[in-house]
Amino acid sequence: MAGHSTYVPASGFERWLDSRLPIMRLMHDTMTTFPTPRNLNIWYTFGGILTFCLAVQIVTGIVLAMHYVPSADMAFNSVEGRIMREVNYGWLIRYIHSNGASMFFLAVYIHMFRGLYYGSYKAPREVIWILGVLIYLLMMATAFFGYVLPWGQMSFWGATVITSLFSALDQVIPHLGSAITSWLWGGFAVGDATLNRFFSLHYLLPFVIAGVVGLHIWALHVPGNNNPLGIDVKGPQDTLPFHPYYTVKDAFYLSLFLILFAAFVFFAPNFFGNPDNAIQANPLVTPQDIVPEWYLLPFYAMLRSIPQKLIGVLVLVGALVTLVFVPWLDTSKVRSCRFRPLMKQCFWLLVLDCVMLGYVGAQSADAALSLGGMQLPLVWLARLGTAYYYGFFWLIMPIVGLIETPKALPESIAKAVLGAKAKA
Ligand code: HEM
Repeated sequence: MAGHSTYVPASGFERWLDSRLPIMRLMHDTMTTFPTPRNLNIWYTFGGILTFCLAVQIVTGIVLAMHYVPSADMAFNSVEGRIMREVNYGWLIRYIHSNGASMFFLAVYIHMFRGLYYGSYKAPREVIWILGVLIYLLMMATAFFGYVLPWGQMSFWGATVITSLFSALDQVIPHLGSAITSWLWGGFAVGDATLNRFFSLHYLLPFVIAGVVGLHIWALHVPGNNNPLGIDVKGPQDTLPFHPYYTVKDAFYLSLFLILFAAFVFFAPNFFGNPDNAIQANPLVTPQDIVPEWYLLPFYAMLRSIPQKLIGVLVLVGALVTLVFVPWLDTSKVRSCRFRPLMKQCFWLLVLDCVMLGYVGAQSADAALSLGGMQLPLVWLARLGTAYYYGFFWLIMPIVGLIETPKALPESIAKAVLGAKAKA
């Protein structure tokens, strides 16, 4: 897809630079003339939206770090006192950063489910997908470290619960897990040393993410985009130059996304937050329910659905590792769910399943649903949800791909989009 470069330097300076560092050529070939399928829909604008989100998090994060103090005594006041009340527009920068994390995850989930629906992980795009999974894991780690920094009750207890998961290794080799846990803490509990290292890592990881995003987009530019039909580009009539067609489309949807983002920042800045985090961390008082941010809830529900700690941790880690194998678990010859009637239904069930797991993850561990007088402990819903999640990837994907009869695929993208107007 990359093809021949069509870049022609426009000035003496560009000619000079091009023979030394062809960076203008690279930008021209990847962002201006790049042949892009002509049928990309709204769901294809989220890659650009994600790049924007990453930039926003880095810029606002750097400004916040200028005023933040990473010490157990001062962190809470440096955020709630100094940044929120004293620094000019500190409240705005903080709210953009904290709501930005939620918007980033909202966009990444749409981006991932889009990839699953259109079979974008299938050959020859396996590496794009795997780099995406790596970015997702790095995003979860970054968000977890970031949530600890304001040093509220949920910051402290969330950090305690998650780091303590390593102590499950005690069941494999006695003392190993506890040793790793106190090594991670830098002491015998989450404290000053923990906060300092989490701050350091929270500052570092976004730049690692930026590097992996570079690889992700590089890998994308080798085969070019997949598209909602999931069929290959057959010739120039199937594509459009990236600029102005997709630069304009991306900018339009980014603007809509920004309206939603601004609505949260200005009208409901604490919508995604937990009120317990407005209370300074207190190692002597445990909150009634320890819950992570919404974007980690489905995995939290899986962890809690299993009473045995080590197995719970393995189920949680396994659910994430599963994503790496997706390109090889799907046995279908057809990429897009548009032509896969059975898979389409299983896909939407997976979306519902993740929402249901998220709901269960947000409830108390011993909560129950009352159904016509009967009490159904939510932990059973979490088990059912976990079973479907694993079943979807390890059973449904390979089996449905073999038994399903897909609908007939269109001859070409141009034919499907333009109908009779397409050139033969
Ligand atoms: C910081 C996070 C990320 C950024 C900035 C990013 C960026 C992009 C961009 C710019 C594109 C091309 C435009 C588009 O298809 O939307 C893309 C495509 C893609 N991304 Fe991501 N991405 C991120 C995370 C992920 C994650 C977490 C996954 C999956 C686990 C993923 C999987 C894919 C796939 C499979 C494609 C190819 C889609 C296709 O051609 O149909 N990405 N990404």
